[in-house]
Amino acid sequence: MPLVSMRQLLDEAARGGYGVGAFNVNNMEQIQAIMEAARETSSPVIIQASRGARAYTNDRFLWHLMQAAIELYPEIPVALHLDHGNAPETCISAIDLGFTSVMMDGSLEADGKTPASFEYNVAVTKEVVAYAHARGVTVEGELGTLGGIEDGHGSGEVHLTDPGEAVEFVGSTGIDALAVAIGTSHGAYKFAQAPDGDVLKMDLIEEIHRRLPETHLVMHGSSSVPPELVEQINRYGGTLKPAWGVPVKEIQLGVRHGVRKINVDTDSRLAVTGAIRKVFAESPEKFDPRDYLKPARTAMQELIATRMRDFGQAGHAGDYQPLSLEEMRAGYAAAH
Ligand code: G3H
Ligand code: 13P
Ligand code: ZN
Repeated sequence: MPLVSMRQLLDEAARGGYGVGAFNVNNMEQIQAIMEAARETSSPVIIQASRGARAYTNDRFLWHLMQAAIELYPEIPVALHLDHGNAPETCISAIDLGFTSVMMDGSLEADGKTPASFEYNVAVTKEVVAYAHARGVTVEGELGTLGGIEDGHGSGEVHLTDPGEAVEFVGSTGIDALAVAIGTSHGAYKFAQAPDGDVLKMDLIEEIHRRLPETHLVMHGSSSVPPELVEQINRYGGTLKPAWGVPVKEIQLGVRHGVRKINVDTDSRLAVTGAIRKVFAESPEKFDPRDYLKPARTAMQELIATRMRDFGQAGHAGDYQPLSLEEMRAGYAAAH
């Protein structure tokens, strides 16, 4: 099966009433963990790479690893997505490389830190939509900003998405999917205690979905930060502070109100690190990377398989035949 357009994958998710996890990758083991979890649960998947991931893998390694994934798992529809593109050029280079979806994060300026104006956001996002749709590629935009700063990305300030602006933004840009800011942050430290409706604004999702029923909504910062993963890291020498993430039941509530793409990176990092720390602590004589990368890969697979079941994508891998990007292009051309 070739790579699938993310638009088709999300349209199918909307039709089936389920959500799809978008899992970040930086290396072979993470791609393998996701593909094995997808096979185990028969799930369509979104694999996403940040700018940092593209730099880390030098793009070409990432591309060839993805080719291996689609060759070895022909029954799994896979969308390859650029996470948090900071500028049109970054999105264009991903499209030229063969990504089937890009995020133009114009909620921040090109430095990835400074909150941008609405007009700037519309202008850069529109530019990317024109380039992407002419090639059948999907575009995700973002309105509002998340809290937290992950490896230099993010303003650290929360600006919740305004539903009225969301309607104008989608209408002016023609995006396929909208990332909304509802109080989550990237990273492990999202909330100081179990979140309630004052800090995690699920009602905002309901309102935006009511006003934009055809737009696929995206929840960033959606790791749940399971206490057992934090505890495992700390048991074996880590120093993570107590942390609260987004409860799975809140994500499931979001899925009932138009959330189709759910971004998860931190939980994978916690699973991988916990497994590696355990080997290092219990078997300090070991020095073959396979001795710790294999348990790390297994731990991430278990986590992802659980999330695939939680989000509802499990069992849907064989529901549809992927359209080519040329077919998607023709569809956009007919709709514009
Ligand atoms: O949104 C951020 C993702 O977790 C990717 O993080 O930029 O450190 O690769 P990264
Ligand atoms: P987490 O840090 O909650 O995993 O969020 C990841 C994300 O939003 C990637 O874009
Ligand atoms: Zn994000």
